[in-house]
Amino acid sequence: MYDVKKIRADFPMLNGDVTMQGKPLIYLDNNATTLKPKCVADEVYGYLTKWTSNAERGDYDLSHVVDTKVEGAREDIQKFIGAKDAREVVFTQGSTDSLNMVAYGYALEHLHEGDEILLNVAEHASNVLPWFDVAKLTGAKITYANLDEDGRLTLNEIKKATTEHTKIISFAAVTNVMGYLAPVKDITSFAHEHGIIVVVDGAQSVPHVVTDVVRDDIDFLAFSGHKMLGPTGIGVLYGKYELLEQLKPTRFGGGSNARFDVDGSLTLKSIPHRFESGTVNIEGIVGLGEAVRYLQKVGMENIHAHELELRQYAIEKLAQVDKVTVYNPKAEGAISLNIKGVFAQDAASLFNTYGIAVRAGNHCAKLLKHYLGTDATVRCSLYLYNTKEEIDQFVEVCKKGDDFLDAFFG
Ligand code: ALA
Repeated sequence: MYDVKKIRADFPMLNGDVTMQGKPLIYLDNNATTLKPKCVADEVYGYLTKWTSNAERGDYDLSHVVDTKVEGAREDIQKFIGAKDAREVVFTQGSTDSLNMVAYGYALEHLHEGDEILLNVAEHASNVLPWFDVAKLTGAKITYANLDEDGRLTLNEIKKATTEHTKIISFAAVTNVMGYLAPVKDITSFAHEHGIIVVVDGAQSVPHVVTDVVRDDIDFLAFSGHKMLGPTGIGVLYGKYELLEQLKPTRFGGGSNARFDVDGSLTLKSIPHRFESGTVNIEGIVGLGEAVRYLQKVGMENIHAHELELRQYAIEKLAQVDKVTVYNPKAEGAISLNIKGVFAQDAASLFNTYGIAVRAGNHCAKLLKHYLGTDATVRCSLYLYNTKEEIDQFVEVCKKGDDFLDAFFG
């Protein structure tokens, strides 16, 4: 049985000591970043206090400990995402970095004038702006699949927007505002029939649902450690091995090369180390490794089921509040809403006065205004440690609607 109390006990920030505005913290901003369990902090602390040394360079015992931890984390992440080979897991700074690597290291090398990169308006800036730039540099064109009436990306809309020129389809498996789980496998099957490469932004899916890159036949997958209980500044680019062989490193330096000489010759190390120039983020890697082991212990199916139950509970309660418009009641991820007559950022400030952390604004999904007809929403995003009691308190604040603005601005 899912024991949320037991899970909460693993998170130091939920032990009651942390308050906002004198109220116990209710953390509902998990799509921005997540809280960390003690085991992750301990693993990072262990590196900083017990086994500090560089990775992949040393010939002494401590560096051997670090190498084992780093490569162990890589293998645990490989299993977590269902990859065939640990070499397909490249450590990066996060999803943004991973997507930039695909855009500049793969697309820039392979696209030509007139080729098309298919996006949609629900995407985060990190999965739009690198493509804008690559399109400018190559003469390729950005095209968009429509969202359906609920705000979903569907295979049908992908099919309608695909042409003989489409070379890359890039989309989030779960978007950070609309929160729908995209039909990843259907899209990759269709794309591969047409020789199209599929890039998946997994920043909001890998932390919340079972990921299986082989089942879904994903070509490239980007995700971030800090949205899945790990440290900031660490993430992963998964790529099919044969595609990583075609990926040009976008950064060069120490640790990534086997040899180079005055004649300009350069031999890169093998995959994945050729993509990991410079000292890697060791604290980040070992912390992410521990986060993945923790998530796996709880079970991704259990986490997803818990979140869906909470979400459904919240949607039913919010449906009874006239002042609230929910933009994505049928989705699986974040709940995006507005309180009638209240600017989203004002609402977030007011939630703060009740100790509730939510994000408000455009959430870096700046094209979504073309679908939603509004620039800003309040976003409530859940995770494994949230409870129905927290939802109750969130809904109570929503109920106050514009009444509470009077109290706020007095
Ligand atoms: N991408 C993160 C979010 O959606 C920061 O909040």
